[in-house]
Amino acid sequence: MNQYIINGNHPLFGEITISGAKNAAVAIIPAALMVDGVCRIENIPQISDVTLLFSILDELGAKVRVLNQHAVEIDSRHIHSTKPSPDMVRKIRASYYLIGALLGRFGQASVAMPGGCNFGVRPIDQHVKGFKALGAEVTEGNYVHAAAKSASGRLQGANVYLDVVSVGATMNVMMAAALAEGTTVIENCAKEPHIVDLANFLNSMGADIKGAGTDTIKVRGVERLNGGTYCIIPDQIEAGTYMTAVAATGGQLLIKNIIPKHMECISAKLMEMGVYVEEMDDTLLVRRTGPLQRTNVKTQPYPGFPTDMQPQIAAVLSLAQGTSLVTEAVWSNRFRYVDELRRLGAQIQVDGRVAVIEGVDCFEGAPVEACDLRAGAAMVVAALAAKGTTEISNVQFIERGYEDLVGKLRSVGADIRIVDVPDEALTTESIG
Ligand code: EPU
Repeated sequence: MNQYIINGNHPLFGEITISGAKNAAVAIIPAALMVDGVCRIENIPQISDVTLLFSILDELGAKVRVLNQHAVEIDSRHIHSTKPSPDMVRKIRASYYLIGALLGRFGQASVAMPGGCNFGVRPIDQHVKGFKALGAEVTEGNYVHAAAKSASGRLQGANVYLDVVSVGATMNVMMAAALAEGTTVIENCAKEPHIVDLANFLNSMGADIKGAGTDTIKVRGVERLNGGTYCIIPDQIEAGTYMTAVAATGGQLLIKNIIPKHMECISAKLMEMGVYVEEMDDTLLVRRTGPLQRTNVKTQPYPGFPTDMQPQIAAVLSLAQGTSLVTEAVWSNRFRYVDELRRLGAQIQVDGRVAVIEGVDCFEGAPVEACDLRAGAAMVVAALAAKGTTEISNVQFIERGYEDLVGKLRSVGADIRIVDVPDEALTTESIG
């Protein structure tokens, strides 16, 4: 198991190039199972969740050919199983996309669900509601078994109203509907950039999906998806994490390969805090010289402030002048990292879904744990600003979603290194 050792309190200067979006990749790779042909996917982030998904696809009979660091070809013409191995599936939350993809193409899927959950109840009732509306019989237990009931073995287009704005349910139902007979209308959809990206991927393979990015998506089912080439969008949350890093340490970063529109919800908050943010085509210049000002943040579905940036912004607000409120409105329990941040000197009280943050002058390095992916990112942000040395353990969570975080930060002047430690405390539970 690796740890990160960070000697903090150095401003960051330089350029960082953002990788492909994790939450788009973890949906698009399963969606490649729906393609009766070969698809080439570019701008794939090199992260452990992606590596795991490739192994799952390979086991189902897809041929995954790595073309270079960020591009693969997936040939799903000879899939021989609709029951991926539970051991692999349980390690990644996004494995629920295998249900929509396999059910859509083959009319059946048996997929184990990941156990445990790190920030509150993570039901999939809305996914199941959608599959049932499309004519599947679904049973849930250790596995989700789903099978199309129609004689043709295909799902049937239908109207689906989601009771909760859910990223996963929107994408899963959209996938299943893409190869259904007839038209599906999904209402009360999530609008995250990765939903648009998945729709664009499927359309480029021959699907007929309109309205992704709005709250109503219309899917006209097609008979088959053919091969093609697709390039994944840049990662909004990776970019946002580096923005918060420079906000915490001071300095100036040019953050390259971003879509400025996706960054507005994060840029706006940082600007309120006194951070300079300038947008230039596919690049953001982020500079912090003066003190940080307090503000309030409430997480919301896109285009609101992303829950996946909540721990990182809380780390920065802990260094701002005055009292800030952070309200977590998406997940019921996403403040587990607060105890770790307190070890560095943060003054945070949590009451239900609200964290009250009293800004402090500085953090002091200490041993801390990454309790999940974004919590881990927040530890890195805080440690970069802390005086002295911080050891972050359980960094396998961070490596699930950040490509070469250590290399990228070192290239802009951070004193961060990876060390190998004995394996005794390795956690395999996974979220995201
Ligand atoms: N919900 C339900 N029923 C459902 C589905 C969701 O009640 O059937 C509730 C959840 O309990 C939650 C809310 O709806 O309170 C939103 O959940 P959503 O389905 O949108 O989350 P998700 O699809 O499971 C994805 C990301 C998360 C990110 C959320 C919200 C992936 C693989 N994961 O999860 O990303 O926090 O959307 O934006 O795309 C991360 O990257 O660190 C991460 C956790």
